[in-house]
Amino acid sequence: MTDRYAQAVNSGFTKTLAKKLGLPRPAILRRYRAGDPLTAGPVLVVADSASKSDADALSQVLLGWDVDVRRDAGDDVRWGAVVVVLTEAAEPTAVAEPLLAAGSALRRLAGSGRVVTVSRAPGESDAPALAATRQGVDAVVRSLGKELRGGATANGVVLVDDVEVGHPSVLATLRFFVSARSAYVDGQLLRVGPADTAAVAGAIGRDGRLEGQVAVVTGAARGIGTAIARTLARDGATVVCVDVPAAGEALAATANAIGGTTLQLDVTADDAGQRILDHARERHGRLDVVVHNAGITRDKLLANMKPAQWEPVVAVNLAAQLRINETLLGAGIEGLRIVSLASTSGIAGNKGQTNYGFSKAGVIGHTRATGRLLAATGGTANAVAPGFIETDMTARIPFTTREVARRLPSLAQGGQPVDVAEAIAFLASPEAAGVNGQVLRVCGQHLVGQ
Ligand code: NAI
Repeated sequence: MTDRYAQAVNSGFTKTLAKKLGLPRPAILRRYRAGDPLTAGPVLVVADSASKSDADALSQVLLGWDVDVRRDAGDDVRWGAVVVVLTEAAEPTAVAEPLLAAGSALRRLAGSGRVVTVSRAPGESDAPALAATRQGVDAVVRSLGKELRGGATANGVVLVDDVEVGHPSVLATLRFFVSARSAYVDGQLLRVGPADTAAVAGAIGRDGRLEGQVAVVTGAARGIGTAIARTLARDGATVVCVDVPAAGEALAATANAIGGTTLQLDVTADDAGQRILDHARERHGRLDVVVHNAGITRDKLLANMKPAQWEPVVAVNLAAQLRINETLLGAGIEGLRIVSLASTSGIAGNKGQTNYGFSKAGVIGHTRATGRLLAATGGTANAVAPGFIETDMTARIPFTTREVARRLPSLAQGGQPVDVAEAIAFLASPEAAGVNGQVLRVCGQHLVGQ
């Protein structure tokens, strides 16, 4: 679906008019294209004094990614990204210098520029001042996301326990956040815990990282599901595209375009998990990634809600995932990565969506539990919570509500299906093994929810 307002205020006469009238002008976001540089310009790396050696190590990694790295905020360049390293900051006073240095560079931040903090999560035994410093970073990221303009975003990598900055999952998360792949991810912090990964720094985030792997995507016939299937295939995976028989033609079109296979299946079927497993193994010899994307809405105020609205929503969006996961967990697959579609409605709630909100919050709940269970075999379970994404589902929202929903995020526009797909491809990559049991919002920092 096209956002005609965003198009109009970014082109020709209407652009000039919108500028004169002071109307909001949602930026055209920089999105990933093969061959483009990782960032839109040089990257500034700043740190508090205790975190200098971590900043040095990250600078070396960025250089290895062909990025022009600078350490002086005074350089007269148009910054592609600013990385603020606060991993060893132990007192609230320690963060002022690096954050204000980062701030002084923001007026020269390129369109769709990035600010990424790298810090540590508060631990159970932290001294109060240390816990305060670490917790403080959270709201710096969220506040800055609301201040940045021109499609720029602020996000944070948060190291858990003794994880070092050189851990492949820290680097993979940093790379995702500085890159154009995170175009619609704003104001988010991702925790990276200890986990074994086979990845090496140079290969992280490269095209082809899913080479030789088999991924299943449910609800792949259209919308976000099609974008996920395409993106995983672009990254090298063989994709099994699943959807209901009624969507068979569109499903075949998705699969044919990416050299994948189709599995016509209602995910609520009792044997859905086994059929997915059998298809992947018999046709492709293995199963590495499962993306639970199939979902439906049946909106009604609870006062008017009937089983006909409540039950199918919970059956498709939540119960099917639980049942399929049970089968997959029982199969003892090494390193299985599961990514489930939640929603900002499952975090903040939404009028008319008690059923949908329950199902999506349920996805967040089971993801944490499933992540713990999968960790034993080197696997992960994560959820992605989209905000307003331009698809058939949101095209059905009444015009005025839709327009308001589009302008509420910090990025003042809806996201594209590919924005959700890029986040999923990152979480599905083997190097993201340290990111487990989490919810990544892809919502342009929507006003709704945290
Ligand atoms: P969509 O309605 O365009 O596509 C959903 C797909 O799932 C369809 O191809 C449909 O046939 C399939 N499907 C539905 N029931 C199924 C079943 N029982 N078995 C197999 N396939 C089934 O939806 P959209 O917008 O692409 O959303 C995809 C996911 O993202 C859903 O889980 C949705 O809740 C979630 N989401 C979407 C947002 C948006 O703004 N579009 C926002 C937040 C979450």
